[in-house]
Amino acid sequence: VGVIGHGGVGQGVVQLLEERRELLTRIGGPFTLVGVAVRDPARPREGLAPGLLTTPEALLADPRLDVLVEVAGGVEPAFRWVAEALRRGKAVVTANKALLAERAEELESLRRESGGRLFCEAAVAGGLPILQVLDRGLLANRVVRVEGILNGTCNFILTRMERERLSFAEALARAQALGFAEADPGLDVSGGDTAHKLAVLASLATGHPVSSRGLFTEGIEKLTAFDLQWAEAHGLRVKLLAIGRFGGGRMELRVHPTLVPKSHLISQVMDEVNAVAVEGDLVGPQLYSGKGAGRLPTASAVVGDVAQALRGERPLGARPQEEGGPWRVVPMGEVVSRHYVHLEVVDRPGVVARVAGTLAAHGISIASLYQPEAAHGSQVPLVFTTHPAPDAALTRALAGLAAEPFLAAPAVHVRMEA
Ligand SMILES: NC(=O)c1ccc[n+]([C@@H]2O[C@H](COP(=O)([O-])OP(=O)(O)OC[C@H]3O[C@@H](n4cnc5c(N)ncnc54)[C@H](OP(=O)(O)O)[C@@H]3O)[C@@H](O)[C@H]2O)c1
Repeated sequence: VGVIGHGGVGQGVVQLLEERRELLTRIGGPFTLVGVAVRDPARPREGLAPGLLTTPEALLADPRLDVLVEVAGGVEPAFRWVAEALRRGKAVVTANKALLAERAEELESLRRESGGRLFCEAAVAGGLPILQVLDRGLLANRVVRVEGILNGTCNFILTRMERERLSFAEALARAQALGFAEADPGLDVSGGDTAHKLAVLASLATGHPVSSRGLFTEGIEKLTAFDLQWAEAHGLRVKLLAIGRFGGGRMELRVHPTLVPKSHLISQVMDEVNAVAVEGDLVGPQLYSGKGAGRLPTASAVVGDVAQALRGERPLGARPQEEGGPWRVVPMGEVVSRHYVHLEVVDRPGVVARVAGTLAAHGISIASLYQPEAAHGSQVPLVFTTHPAPDAALTRALAGLAAEPFLAAPAVHVRMEA
């Protein structure tokens, strides 16, 4: 077994390969850790014999290598390493959702051509074995829905905004201070990381390689403490959800902040915890929840895959593609949902009429309207929710409202799930 990467996850993997050696040997037979590749092998690493440190190229060329563990991250050069290992007939274990989601089709053809084995349980929701659930446990089902809270950083931030009435920036700073957010949180708070994971889930749920490119993705940066408190007062909660709906040759795939009733189990998942709701046509709805990241939960998934690779098991991907070619991804504009919109307006005559008129012109019906009392001429929040409306109609209405002189800040738009 060789490992590329000795960061948070790589250290956990090396630790477990030693600490659980006896168990792993009983499962998959005796194994040797042949090398750990890093950027700078000359720099000593705590707890690692210097003789083990190497480069990815040297590790890949090592004739003793049977199982490559890629826990370095990033799309390139990780794709090159994984492709080379598969072509050389090695089993590969990766935790790299960016790689899986951005190069989904190429990896799928590589797998088919080389017959290589690629294991990836750790890539989605870390320690939660949700990919095994979709690909093994629910294999007799048609998976009709997957919904997930797949980014612990975002869920932690949203929890702090709601509970402590923090702004987005304050909650992000808190997450960084406590180690729940990276120094560069861009991929997390923009929804990009969640989109990568949704692509992997959708691939296993449908049997079609799904790329995250072009997948509708909105992050949590625009949300305000006001929005979280409005939700709280109305029996709702805002969650960054990955949503996949499948059926009839179509898939709806989207990542965005979502208002969910507090009574729904998924909305009760707080702080850095992850959750995935799955619905199969035979089993109905199910919810899985637990630690989605961190050294040992993630290493647990990686090392579980290593054990399966050593035992000669087939990797995931058992679900056959449905006949009739790739499924059509429903354009976001066609997705119908209810909407919450928070406008900051200057309180003066005719504003509400203008907002209602713009919505009506786009065929959108208002379900509720709220504006707190404020001094005439001052800035005030104006909130409305709509009855179900196509996304494109609401987007066009908001574009129209954006030009209004009474608008004091960009609109906050959150889709609602029943
Ligand atoms: N952190 C989590 O909780 C978590 C959860 C699920 C999945 N993952 C995934 O697991 C992977 C690793 O995450 P991490 O948090 O452990 O990352 P990390 O702490 O940044 O560590 C990355 C490691 O990879 C090495 N590396 C990076 N680029 C390299 C290159 N070009 N050549 C050789 N070595 C290279 C680094 O070497 P140096 O030490 O020399 O810099 C470092 O040891 C990522 O794909 C991530 O998305 C992480």
